[in-house]
Amino acid sequence: MFDQLFQPMDLGGQTLPNRLVLPPLTRSRAGKDGVPTPLMAEYYRQRSGAGLVISEGTVVSPQGASYARVPGLYSEQQVRGWRPVVEAAKSRGAAVYAQLWHVGRQAHSSVQPDGGRPWAPSAIAITGWQYRSPQGRVPFEEPRELSLDGIKDIVEQFAVAARNAMAAGFDGVELHAANGYLFDQFLNSSSNQRTDQYGGSVENRLRFLNEVIDAVSSFVPAHRIGVRISPSSTWMDAFDPDKRGLYSALVRSISPRGLAYLHLVEPGIAGAIDSADHAEPITSAELGALFDGPVIVTGGHTPWSAAAAVGAGDADLVGFGRLFISNPDLPARIRMGAGLAELRHEGLYGGGATGYTDYPELQTAN
Ligand code: PHB
Repeated sequence: MFDQLFQPMDLGGQTLPNRLVLPPLTRSRAGKDGVPTPLMAEYYRQRSGAGLVISEGTVVSPQGASYARVPGLYSEQQVRGWRPVVEAAKSRGAAVYAQLWHVGRQAHSSVQPDGGRPWAPSAIAITGWQYRSPQGRVPFEEPRELSLDGIKDIVEQFAVAARNAMAAGFDGVELHAANGYLFDQFLNSSSNQRTDQYGGSVENRLRFLNEVIDAVSSFVPAHRIGVRISPSSTWMDAFDPDKRGLYSALVRSISPRGLAYLHLVEPGIAGAIDSADHAEPITSAELGALFDGPVIVTGGHTPWSAAAAVGAGDADLVGFGRLFISNPDLPARIRMGAGLAELRHEGLYGGGATGYTDYPELQTAN
């Protein structure tokens, strides 16, 4: 019934064993200074039956981090920490990509290296959402507006992180341009009121993303670079009067670059949760049709909807976030039509093995 999901495919010159993706999922288990841990290796090893494994959001610099205990790729120690994790994720033939992340104004002074306010395209705070601090939810702060040199520094941070990703053994990188983080802050006019070459026209708002792709391409070939976007989401104040025009222009702009893939967050997803709270649903089929290359869709899928999307040619690969957390052997379960375990809330963000590596595989499930 799910045969379409088990057809191998080529991605950037690698043969993926199936069409199932472990999408980027923040789990906050890194050690001190964003160094990956042996527990993380165990978590990724358990989920290595995917065709493609994308790492949790991995920050390109300390200023790019939102929360404690997210991993990074800016230090030698982090590269060393990632190596066994990547090896574990590759143990059953998956391609393994690092998701490179800078949160921009979703950060907080309590986690900024200089204790100052976060950095963003414009000095406009997120309203309507709150920051998840260790002491509970607090309002977001007004960010500092990035100077041209500041932007250049961040472009360089992405390039260095990409180089580090390759040194850690990753097969490629994904740029996190979804969910109201830094790329999305440049894209949407609600967070970008700049009057220089990075603001105003859609072409200008696309400039930062295209410059990062250029810079990263020095270390990772274009066919190993993926881009993730969430065209329908207004989560974290990502508003624009013309989302359809904006993201269509984005896809048209990156399509000729020969990238590994376009990764689309489905309408109806707001960050990590379900929500009908979007400006207008822009379907993945509509945007994917504008992209010349593999398309991944993630968000709210069941095995049936995934098979339908792949069968209809609307997507090549399908990500399962919550189901892959609660079913480490998800591909095997789908293949044999087995039941799927439900997600528990405990341990989603931070903590130890509970809610992380203690979901059983089928043979030991009761
Ligand atoms: C989260 O930590 O809830 C989270 C992180 C990255 C995302 C979305 C949600 O892109």
